[in-house]
Amino acid sequence: MSEQSQLTTGKRRILVTSALPYANGSIHLGHLLEHIQTDIWTRFQRLRGHECYSVCADDAHGTPVMLKAQELGITPEEMVARTRAEHHQDLCDFFVDYNNYYVTHSPENQHFCEEIYNRLDKAGYISKRTINQLFDPEKNMFLPDRFVKGTCPSCGAEDQNGDSCDVCGATYSPTEVKNPRSVVSGATPVLKESEHFFFDLPQFEGMLKAWIRSGAIQEEMANKLQEWFEDGLQQWDISRDAPYFGFEIPGAPNKFFYVWVDAPVGYMASFKNFCDSNNVDFDSFWNVDSDAELYHFIGKDITYFHCLFWPAMLEGAGYRKPTGVNIHGFVTVNGAKMSKSRGTFIKGRTYLDHLDPEYLRYYFASKLGDGVTDIDLNFEDFAQKVNSDLVGKVVNIASRCASFITKRFDGKLSANVLEPELVAQFQNASETIAELFEKRKYHQAVREIMALADKANQFIDTNAPWVTIKDETKQQFTHDVCSLGINLFRILVTYLKPVLPILAQKTEAFLNDELSWESAQTVLTDHAINKFKPMMQRVEMDKINAMVEASKESLNTAPKIDPNSPLAKDPISEEITYEDFAKVDFRIARIANAEHVEKADKLLRLELDLGGETRQVFAGIKSAYAPEDLIGKHTVMVANLAPRKMRFGMSEGMVLAAGPGGKDLYILEPHEGAQPGMRVK
Ligand code: MSP
Ligand code: ZN
Repeated sequence: MSEQSQLTTGKRRILVTSALPYANGSIHLGHLLEHIQTDIWTRFQRLRGHECYSVCADDAHGTPVMLKAQELGITPEEMVARTRAEHHQDLCDFFVDYNNYYVTHSPENQHFCEEIYNRLDKAGYISKRTINQLFDPEKNMFLPDRFVKGTCPSCGAEDQNGDSCDVCGATYSPTEVKNPRSVVSGATPVLKESEHFFFDLPQFEGMLKAWIRSGAIQEEMANKLQEWFEDGLQQWDISRDAPYFGFEIPGAPNKFFYVWVDAPVGYMASFKNFCDSNNVDFDSFWNVDSDAELYHFIGKDITYFHCLFWPAMLEGAGYRKPTGVNIHGFVTVNGAKMSKSRGTFIKGRTYLDHLDPEYLRYYFASKLGDGVTDIDLNFEDFAQKVNSDLVGKVVNIASRCASFITKRFDGKLSANVLEPELVAQFQNASETIAELFEKRKYHQAVREIMALADKANQFIDTNAPWVTIKDETKQQFTHDVCSLGINLFRILVTYLKPVLPILAQKTEAFLNDELSWESAQTVLTDHAINKFKPMMQRVEMDKINAMVEASKESLNTAPKIDPNSPLAKDPISEEITYEDFAKVDFRIARIANAEHVEKADKLLRLELDLGGETRQVFAGIKSAYAPEDLIGKHTVMVANLAPRKMRFGMSEGMVLAAGPGGKDLYILEPHEGAQPGMRVK
């Protein structure tokens, strides 16, 4: 479309993408946050009448996919085809509506990768250099960092990743790991030389700095990227040696494009595949002078790839850059990282087996803003919000009014509009709500809509049609009240249509009407509607519990715990971070004195020597220990616990003991050599 006609019609041309899920795992609630965020935005743009396309695909290439296929005894092509179909079905069932859900292992993608590479090469952005890399001599393959494990060179912790240590947080090169081994075969890797291809990222520093500050990404992320610039941009290693599942680099047998080269190019390929069979002009979206808008929705973990490498590749190859990269945070469940053992690593399919997808769409919408903070899915809050907002407020408006229209007023809405000012209030909110959707402040849009829903319910409460219906003289009034209620409901569902497409569909069937954003500006009068059918069920807590049970994958395969063991009676607590643990200061203490406490039947008074400082601690161990047996022994105490005033005096810490109680109580004693005051860590 020419600029002129775009100005006159106000119609925008927009292409939207979500990050391409890897083809070696299932779609889970984390992925769904992103796809739902993207889908709401896309549906909103379409509802406003813009020409908006959205595409996605499976990310097929790389070592993990290759190895997983080997494990399953099938070709990677076969595995990817299966996974792609499964992913697509999952997304469709959440009503995520892409124009195309493709795969990066495609002829279109190969074409664009080669073209972009050749253009970059011609422009002098590609160089070659020999590097040393760990090689698995049994498997005959170079090992990506995450396929090497060994002892941390920094703190000596065993069984750490090839590039970082979970215990001390150090990052390092896999060649620095001590006692390295290949995760693939267990063999000891050897260093081997290989020629690699590099993309000259530093050449693009000026362009990237300007692009990042152009409003293309959120300010908080722009600030973060600033740090990366300060560390200095590096040449980017874009090749991998055979065996590798990917595209071979033109003119370089046995050298393949690193998966992160062809993955974002997959956005173009998926769109190209769509354009070719739908008569859409691909070039007008991707040419360097395109007037179309291009947005990528991604999680914060892949910012580097989308905000540095990708715009640089596009620029270097003569294509347009993204208008925006919209970055979101991570999903946590009940306040913690999703966990397989706790049943909170929930696959999309498991959710669908138990709950209505629109609940999740609504819940995520009610929490999503334009920032990168993590989004917590709290099940209590989830049930409460859906039940009170959607079932209790929105759908309730229609169900309170509809049956009178059907039974008493011939199934037709009144010709009168009872309170034009109230309708105007609902209509005037249209631009505010649109602006909030446009800026991805969905949580605020939802709040505005729910405030209107409250007003609609108040209007019905005040006029109590269930009372006036009994009064022969108030029939017209009752008809007008119920008709207005239905009209207010119609406007609310219009605003919610990007979030709740199925509720909107049911409403359209109920009202004999199609809802576009413009619908909010009209009122249905003298209009026949259909019999009201229930539109949404309440969330049942036991459905959620069943979903969590079904997600406890690893427990089904884990060795069975003896039901009489302490572990069965008192399961391991929620996971904590190292930082959480490090807050507790454990010290070796010498029990300098121990004595009975008058009138206390459970406590002993201990004097604990920390080698320079003495603490008084009251410990509930009288049932298991005689004071004289403790004196002179070493034990472990929590030294930084806030002092607690007890009936018998201040307790200034805590000793550690195991066991259920009574005679069955065992205080800890360190191995010989530990001195009072030493930290236990
Ligand atoms: N294949 C790459 C993306 C290539 S895009 C050219 C990838 N795949 S992924 O399957 O690991 O992640 C896909 C998207 O899901 C990413 O944007 C990622 O941030 C997002 N999420 C994965 N787990 C997530 C949560 N727990 N919460 C929110 N989003 C997260 O990265
Ligand atoms: Zn370490």
